[in-house]
Amino acid sequence: MTFDQILNTRRSVRIYDENAAYDSQIVSKSLERAVLSANSSNMQLWEFYQVSSEEKKKAIVKACMHQSAARTASELVIFVTRQDKWKQRAAWNLANMKKQFEGKELKGKGKRALSYYEKLMPLFYTNDFLGIATLIRFSIVVYHSIINKPIIHLVSHADQRVSLHKSCALAAQTFMLSMKSEGYDTCPMEGFDEKMIKKSLNLPSKAEICMVMACGIGKPEGIYTERTRVDNSEVIFKV
Ligand SMILES: Cc1cc2nc3c(=O)[nH]c(=O)nc-3n(C[C@H](O)[C@H](O)[C@H](O)COP(=O)(O)O)c2cc1C
Repeated sequence: MTFDQILNTRRSVRIYDENAAYDSQIVSKSLERAVLSANSSNMQLWEFYQVSSEEKKKAIVKACMHQSAARTASELVIFVTRQDKWKQRAAWNLANMKKQFEGKELKGKGKRALSYYEKLMPLFYTNDFLGIATLIRFSIVVYHSIINKPIIHLVSHADQRVSLHKSCALAAQTFMLSMKSEGYDTCPMEGFDEKMIKKSLNLPSKAEICMVMACGIGKPEGIYTERTRVDNSEVIFKV
């Protein structure tokens, strides 16, 4: 399929053919493609759970309030954000950078890359009980605003959450397009009980569910309506 064909035929499908031949490897392959998605600072603060067991699927379907997409799906994939893993990922990136600059004189680009993961990521992601880290970030942002110097307004825990969900949603999009390119259908869902899903997957309190994805071979009647979008002129601007 061409890229346009993939885009034009990908739909959110709510009813799947439970009798159609289904290869779970396509989901695995699409998840491997999803990890190649652009993500904030390459921190990869995401996880993807391919739910294949009947018992787990039953629990997730319940958490998705028995939506037909979840109920009839051959498999479900849970897209999860893992803010709690930022130290691990920063260290992983730092080690990678060190390897890439090994034997080279550290200046300019190299120095900046190391300091990015050694200093900037801790500044972005640290959260403490008293909110001191947030206060430090807030002061830096205020100072930059006063002197009219641009700065990323990533201050609060809520800002960090938005950043993580952006990256995870991009991975979900890559996944959906990959599935379509293989002739499979999907339905992204945010209509679910997050607490129930986290409990079922044994996830820590700081993990968040970005999306649940229904996967399978869609039935024609699983596409409920014609695809409609507001006019391009309302959302696409040349400035
Ligand atoms: C973040 C997000 C959450 C969604 N949640 C649900 C959902 O809980 N249940 C559902 O049936 N569809 C859900 N959808 C699918 C949208 O309704 C669908 O993408 C939209 O109507 C456009 O249709 P299309 O995907 O077929 O182009 C969701 C889509 C996104 C991106």
